[in-house]
This record gives sequence, C-alpha cells and structure tokens, in this order.
Amino acid sequence: MKIGIIVYSQTGNTFSVAGKLKDKLTAAGHSATVERIVPTSGEKDGKNVKFGRLPDLTQYEGLVFAAPVQAFSLSAVMAAYLKQLPSLSGKKIACFVTKGLPFAWTGGNSAIGKLTKECEARGGTVGATGIVVWRGANRDKNIADVVDAISKAF
Ligand SMILES: Cc1cc2nc3c(=O)[nH]c(=O)nc-3n(C[C@H](O)[C@H](O)[C@H](O)COP(=O)(O)O)c2cc1C
Repeated sequence: MKIGIIVYSQTGNTFSVAGKLKDKLTAAGHSATVERIVPTSGEKDGKNVKFGRLPDLTQYEGLVFAAPVQAFSLSAVMAAYLKQLPSLSGKKIACFVTKGLPFAWTGGNSAIGKLTKECEARGGTVGATGIVVWRGANRDKNIADVVDAISKAF
C-alpha cells in the first residue's frame, strides 16, 4: 500500500518516530513516505497558522497523521492543518502523538481524540492510534510498540 506519514514536529521527536514507522512499513512491503509539514507563520503562539506547500494526499491509499501534544491537547499547528484537509473517504488512517509528561490527563487522549474526530469527519477510517511518552522510563519500548501497532493497521 502507498502510505503517507504526515508529521508536524516542532523539536524533532515526532519526526524521529515517523522515520522508524517508515522503516517498519517499508520492511513490511509498503511504499511509505514521510512528509513533514512546516508552518510559515503562527508556530510560536499557535495563532493565525499558515502553511506554504502542503503534501498531496490524493496519491496515498493509507495515511498516518502525527504531531506533538502541546498545552494539554493537540498542537495548534496540527489542529490548523487538519481544518484544511480534503475528503479522506476510502483511506485507511492511523494517528499517533508524542508527549513529554507520563500522566494520562496531560493531553495525549485529548490530542488523539481531535485527530480521530477530524479524520473521521472527512470520511477516513482510523484503524490504530498511539501515544509515545518522551520522558517515560520505557521510551524505546513505547516507541517500538506504537510503531508495531500502527504498522499492523495497514
Ligand atoms: C509549547 C510546548 C507545550 C507542551 N505541552 C505539553 C503538554 O501539555 N503535555 C505533555 O505531555 N507534553 C507537552 N509538551 C512536550 C512535547 O509534547 C514533547 O516534548 C513532544 O515529544 C515534542 O514533539 P516534537 O519534538 O515532535 O515537537 C510540550 C512541549 C512544548 C514545546
């Protein structure tokens, strides 16, 4: 399957997990591409977020959306990106987030909920989600588990 991994990453953590996911998907026989979305404005305060060139999603049968948790929810840049998404009808989708804090109430579930809701509102089917806790003691296992669960969804 042709899969696009669409990632927003402010400091590189989410991007690094996206690279591992690409390797896993490729090893499983898929064609996977990481596309990093970079805002041209609004990254600092999350207001008036604008983008330059954005990935063409029509070329992909499968999509992974990935972003960091910020301010106890999905990062404002990814939230703004989701608002302009085209129809995702017929596409298999998975989502993951990375976050700093190891407690459930610090934004991971809220961020995954937003990602899932926006994808489903556009007709996509979300088959897997994952949360990577960056400061957790088991970060490497956490990453491996999330990468594994998401790659199995395709
Ligand atoms: C402005 C800002 C706000 C953050 N807010 C949260 C938060 O509410 N909860 C949390 O668990 N981590 C929070 N973090 C930590 C990031 O989610 C974590 O470091 C993440 O892995 C960064 O991903 P990135 O390197 O792809 O940008 C925050 C980080 C920044 C810079």
